[in-house]
Amino acid sequence: MSGFEGKVAIVTGGGSGIGEAVAKELAAAGASVVVTDIKLDAAQRVVSEIAAAGGTASAFEANSAVAGDNERMVQHAVDTHGALHLAVNNAGIGAAPQPIGEYDVEAWDRVRAVDLDGVFYGLRYEIPAILAAGGGAIVNMSSVLGSVGIAQNAAYVASKHALVGLTKVAALEYTAQGVRTNAVGPGFIDTPLVRSSLSAASRHRRRGRGARAVPAERPGVLHQRQLPPGRRRVQRTLSRVGRAWSVLPTTDARSHFPSQV
Ligand SMILES: NC(=O)c1ccc[n+]([C@@H]2O[C@H](COP(=O)([O-])OP(=O)(O)OC[C@H]3O[C@@H](n4cnc5c(N)ncnc54)[C@H](O)[C@@H]3O)[C@@H](O)[C@H]2O)c1
Repeated sequence: MSGFEGKVAIVTGGGSGIGEAVAKELAAAGASVVVTDIKLDAAQRVVSEIAAAGGTASAFEANSAVAGDNERMVQHAVDTHGALHLAVNNAGIGAAPQPIGEYDVEAWDRVRAVDLDGVFYGLRYEIPAILAAGGGAIVNMSSVLGSVGIAQNAAYVASKHALVGLTKVAALEYTAQGVRTNAVGPGFIDTPLVRSSLSAASRHRRRGRGARAVPAERPGVLHQRQLPPGRRRVQRTLSRVGRAWSVLPTTDARSHFPSQV
């Protein structure tokens, strides 16, 4: 992948899992990457690894669920790297499986605050900065559970569905002005988030439409790929996360990829 030279990207929740892989992939392709995470040490580790591989990145501590943190994160990108062109609103959390009739109300608020409100706050401050830079692209990290249900995960499923709607509105409002907004819906990927809940998810995905949405009986994996001689070792995602790259890279006006979900 190439074509990100001169671009500045934010990846939220970039300190682990999918966000880490996305941040490293963007940096390997030439972008300057702001790795944000609620865990600063995790973001700093990823930045160190990007720098060691010859890329450019900076770490920023931000809680996606706090509007002001999103505003400061965007300001950091502009102050540190000169502009903002790309954003991957990836930070997300789950909750312990439980049926709606017994659902912990605080868990509902906690998941929605990160997985839905956090993406709205990101868009709210990223879009003006990307417009000011002359245009760019945003990818919101939904899930297969943004289009199908799964038992005992009401807050996550509802937030990821709502995130798809939010993405559609952003696309309608800003694509003509040069900011394309898309959502991707990965299946299960073997990350810390899924490791803590996979057995429950596996049990339930065999019931209902979720079973058909996750055809493999095991999660996808993140792995290391050795690029050709002289290039850097980067993390790359398997599974459908790769679709993000078909909608992210082309930030110029000749893009063949309209906003889509
Ligand atoms: N792993 C999967 O199977 C899968 C499938 C579909 C969608 N997703 C989505 O992909 C995204 C990343 O998930 P992952 O599996 O890589 O998880 P992960 O737990 O490996 O990484 C999530 C990162 O987000 C950070 N984070 C958590 N709360 C935050 C907050 N409030 N503000 C900022 N950062 C915060 C964590 O510290 C962590 O570094 C999530 O939105 C998740 O819903 C994951």
